[in-house]
Amino acid sequence: MEESAWKLFDRVAADYDQVAPFFAEFGRAIVDVLDPPAGCRLLDLGCGRGALTAPALARGCAVTAVDASPAMVEHLAADFPAASAYVMDAQALDLPSESFDLVVSSFVVHVLDDPAAGVAEAYRVLAPGGRFAFTGGSARTSYDGRGVQPDADAFPLGRRLDALFQEFAAHLPPNGSMGRPVDAADLLEEAGFGDLREEQAEVRIEFGDNAMLWRWAMSHGYRAFIEDLPVDRREEFHRRVLELPAGDRVLRRVTGVWSGRRPA
Ligand SMILES: C[S@@+](CC[C@H](N)C(=O)[O-])C[C@H]1O[C@@H](n2cnc3c(N)ncnc32)[C@H](O)[C@@H]1O
Repeated sequence: MEESAWKLFDRVAADYDQVAPFFAEFGRAIVDVLDPPAGCRLLDLGCGRGALTAPALARGCAVTAVDASPAMVEHLAADFPAASAYVMDAQALDLPSESFDLVVSSFVVHVLDDPAAGVAEAYRVLAPGGRFAFTGGSARTSYDGRGVQPDADAFPLGRRLDALFQEFAAHLPPNGSMGRPVDAADLLEEAGFGDLREEQAEVRIEFGDNAMLWRWAMSHGYRAFIEDLPVDRREEFHRRVLELPAGDRVLRRVTGVWSGRRPA
């Protein structure tokens, strides 16, 4: 996949998080983990439709929300007028240095063309002593030990979906699909952050049936993977999603919430 990730998100913005509140639930869980106080100047970096912005506003934070996708920002601005929302590249922020207490980026850093540039910008706009936290895409994590999530057997849908993606990844063209694993600790340390922390956020999302699961898959980043498959494989992938066991309805996902503090 050669085009920048935000273009895919711009295309799917109307449906994004509308089939199932996957990102909204994660946003709530992430904000609970970070527990920002009222009045906190919070930057939602790669805000999408406001998964983090909504719970941050509910806590009385002063929220600035930026995303490279104009359609995402339009939805966010309409739904959450209390936030200051801008179309902006996370890798080159048009925001003053040292102007936020907390910068949060949920499921964005690993889809940037240059993840280190995004993390460096988060550092620049944070006030000394402020914290940057992000989720998604880290290849180095301790939360799942041997790669097995606790209770994975009680919620096999995630494991089955992962196995499907792994199987079909063999059919992607070179450089296919969106995003790449990042190393959260390296990224944070290289940008100058200290006091590194790894916490966890978890969601459980119920899908009425596999048709809904498919519509959800097509409404966010999974779509890049599916569109990058050759047409015959894409049809097979679709069929295999529809054939997943009918009784297995709850998708449980856990992400690390990796964060570091800009030295005071
Ligand atoms: C998986 S979505 C996450 C959105 C939101 N944080 C959430 O949790 O729902 C990734 C978001 O990153 C945005 N994005 C991708 N590249 C970007 C960039 N260079 N600058 C700003 N936003 C970007 C996309 O437009 C998309 O909204």
